[in-house]
Amino acid sequence: MTIVVVGGGGREHAIIKKLKQNPTVEAVYCLPGNGGIAFDAVCVPEIKATDIDAVTAFAVEHRADLVVVAPDDPLAAGMVDALEAAGIRAFGPNAAAARIEASKVFSKNLMKKYGIPTARYEVFDDAAAAIAYVEEIGEFPTVIKADGLALGKGVLIPETLEEAKAAVREIMEDKKFGASGNRVVVEQFLRGPEVSVLAFTDGKTVKPMVSSMDHKRALDGDRGLNTGGMGTIAPNPYYTPEIAARCMEEIFLPTVAAMAAEGCPFKGCLYFGLMLTATGPMVIEYNCRFGDPETQVVLPLMQSDLLAAMNATIDGTLAETEVVFSDGAAACVVLASGGYPENYRKLIPISGIGADGNVEGACVYHAGDAIKDGQLVTAGGRVLGVTASGETLAEAVTAAYAATEQIHFEGMHKRTDIGARALAALG
Ligand code: AMP
Ligand code: GLY
Repeated sequence: MTIVVVGGGGREHAIIKKLKQNPTVEAVYCLPGNGGIAFDAVCVPEIKATDIDAVTAFAVEHRADLVVVAPDDPLAAGMVDALEAAGIRAFGPNAAAARIEASKVFSKNLMKKYGIPTARYEVFDDAAAAIAYVEEIGEFPTVIKADGLALGKGVLIPETLEEAKAAVREIMEDKKFGASGNRVVVEQFLRGPEVSVLAFTDGKTVKPMVSSMDHKRALDGDRGLNTGGMGTIAPNPYYTPEIAARCMEEIFLPTVAAMAAEGCPFKGCLYFGLMLTATGPMVIEYNCRFGDPETQVVLPLMQSDLLAAMNATIDGTLAETEVVFSDGAAACVVLASGGYPENYRKLIPISGIGADGNVEGACVYHAGDAIKDGQLVTAGGRVLGVTASGETLAEAVTAAYAATEQIHFEGMHKRTDIGARALAALG
């Protein structure tokens, strides 16, 4: 069987490693992939993850049995629609269903219409009206979100009216996120622990994966700038079986039913970003794809076959398909370039990676590296994700940090407290 994975980060590497555990998988291509993903797949750096025509032509030419579209932008742009039109089997939502992530206005209106718990909000296409609303509510912090995709940076949380005015102007007038900021959502600030839940859904049935916790800020103690994610742990200790049951009844099943009722059933991996507030679980955001770096702790704990789950998602047979996770725990520590998420240098040599792309005692997911003159070098902000598993979260965290000690590159930055909050919650 020939599989093509679209994308080129740690998430795609984790998907590839897991798919390869299925003995029927013979050839795996990654478009474009990166230096370290080449340990596990044939990478094609010439083909961008957003190039729908080139990806489709490649899949047809190589007679791909399955194409997994991992990132949000090609999903939102209709890559799955194009692949299906060309007769290629594809995993991921079509463009209509991907709106659940690509438009915050769409997702907020969906939740309101179908009674799915989320923060109170209003939508504005005019900066002055948005500012007047913030002023009228007078509650701080408040939350201002660009409607469209913004590389995970389209959410601003101003603490004062002055900051809120600046935030609205940045998004709507200076167009910091381009056309994504033509409309904004102003919403109520929620408090509580955050939980990420990825779920397979075939448009009817929902099979959640093990829960996880991201660490979005650049520095220890949740200080510093927001990043794409500096590390993850799974399972998330705040996500008790009681809360999981409530989320299934109040959020997961209603969301999937709402998408079907709107004529855009969601087939793929649906990511629920949840806040466990004092009044119950609420949706902070939906993503139309596997999370990054959540996938780097979730898939290592998956015991059943990923290819089977993906096929069942496409075929509408998830109800009859086993999706099973281990009782253990996993931790992923991201090794980032110095300066990330702002400016950072590239092409710095990386040392300590073994001949199979991993290190002793941990699995390394290559997120942003390249091969230059036969040497692995940095090529992105988040460079590597080092994941270890264990029977307990404490074991997994200790093993992941021990493994990071084997890896070096100039300016390397990691948080030293990945999992600390979760371990404290476990007591
Ligand atoms: P997002 O880009 O939608 O993932 O949002 C980024 C982060 O902003 C989330 O992970 C939350 O920590 C925070 N956030 C978003 N919406 C809210 C909200 N309504 N209340 C509090 N925090 C929020
Ligand atoms: N880790 C958050 C995301 O994938 O959007």
